[in-house]
Amino acid sequence: MKILVVGNGAREHAIVHSLAAEPAVDTANELHAAPGNPGIGGHATLHPVDATDGAAVAALATSLGVDLVVVGPEAPLVAGVADAVRDAGVPVFGPSAEAARLEGSKAFAKEVMATANVPTAMAHVCTTLDEVTAALDAFGPPFVVKDDGLAAGKGVVVTDDRDAAVEHARASLAARGDAGTVVIEEYLDGPEVSLFCVCDGVTVVPMVPAQDFKRVGDDDAGPNTGGMGAYTPLDWAPSGLVGEVVDRIAQPTVDEMARRGTPFTGVLYVGLALTSRGTRVVEFNVRFGDPEIQAVLARLRTPLSGVLLAAAQGRLSEIEPLSWTDDAVVNVVVASQGYPESPRRGDPISGIDAAAALDGVHVLHAGTAVSDGALVSAGGRVLSVVGRGDDLAAARAASYAGVARVDLPGSHHRTDIALTAERGEVEVP
Ligand code: AMP
Ligand code: GLY
Repeated sequence: MKILVVGNGAREHAIVHSLAAEPAVDTANELHAAPGNPGIGGHATLHPVDATDGAAVAALATSLGVDLVVVGPEAPLVAGVADAVRDAGVPVFGPSAEAARLEGSKAFAKEVMATANVPTAMAHVCTTLDEVTAALDAFGPPFVVKDDGLAAGKGVVVTDDRDAAVEHARASLAARGDAGTVVIEEYLDGPEVSLFCVCDGVTVVPMVPAQDFKRVGDDDAGPNTGGMGAYTPLDWAPSGLVGEVVDRIAQPTVDEMARRGTPFTGVLYVGLALTSRGTRVVEFNVRFGDPEIQAVLARLRTPLSGVLLAAAQGRLSEIEPLSWTDDAVVNVVVASQGYPESPRRGDPISGIDAAAALDGVHVLHAGTAVSDGALVSAGGRVLSVVGRGDDLAAARAASYAGVARVDLPGSHHRTDIALTAERGEVEVP
């Protein structure tokens, strides 16, 4: 198949890595990326096209004659890139701009969940500071304050400090002028799970659950980030979890989106908390989660291209259930100095080949660039070091051995990705 992948992060590198590794049916996949990154360039032809420019992406897809376009990140989806490609007659994996509002607006997602009877945190949508303080005091601490727009995982503050909660709400309201809204939520206790559900507007095909580590530091210290690491499988999760999430959350949401005339095609990323009062949705996203998908795809046996094309063409009901390896995968993110507040760019990166030479290790590029012929950092999350093994202990050992071989001045990473799970200490309240 000829496939164009849109985006430039480690998620897109993971997708391209999987597509490149598929056994050839007639011929091997021919891969293109817009704009991609230096790691993606190892498997795909890179095209310097703005990922959020729908007309440009559609024109590229048409001129290349691709069979499928896969849109990775949320920003192009919210900007309508999938619509532009679909209108050009090219199959596309990714929701329309209308359907992408499930991620683009937290208030919209809450409304859909309420209509579809999907269990989630109680929430107040506020447009003034008076409403904010009333909602904060109604719920009590810990306070959860969400900016109602795309914020790359950084628009949410969870704090016991009421003043900090009010300040985040004030800043979020002010940043959007008169149009600002913030969502104040009930706090959800219990471990978080990410479940990616592949959808074709009607049918829902779940992947395997994974867990992400959102805070920057060990033991969940420090601010939220885009995600510092992930692992799969979750041996501690209740055995019926995936079925429950499909039946009570993903399928009702997909049905509700279809009923509204805005069918959902692509990945419905269900972010869950397993709370003392049951399974609750923390958030919806409309694309694969980064860094979870780097771990999840490493366990997928079914060729990815066929799954994504079937979703794009509304044929998911025809495919076999997905097949998974029964080993474990851990992804550790190497971040640049200053991430998430003020990531430093332009530092030299070395040791990737040495890391990838280790058994069970591969390295995916996120924020990298080539400058004067040398690989340098170009973003906050720079690399994903993916390690696999028979169990989480072996996968952790592989991934951290890889991290140890990578050199990026000033970089940091968490040392406890999957550690409590390896020790069997994750508790569902
Ligand atoms: P979101 O952007 O909605 O995914 O929120 C980012 C992170 O903030 C989540 O992954 C959680 O760790 C945390 N979070 C969001 N909402 C809540 C909530 N209601 N209770 C507890 N933690 C939350
Ligand atoms: N892993 C968090 C995200 O992709 O939003």
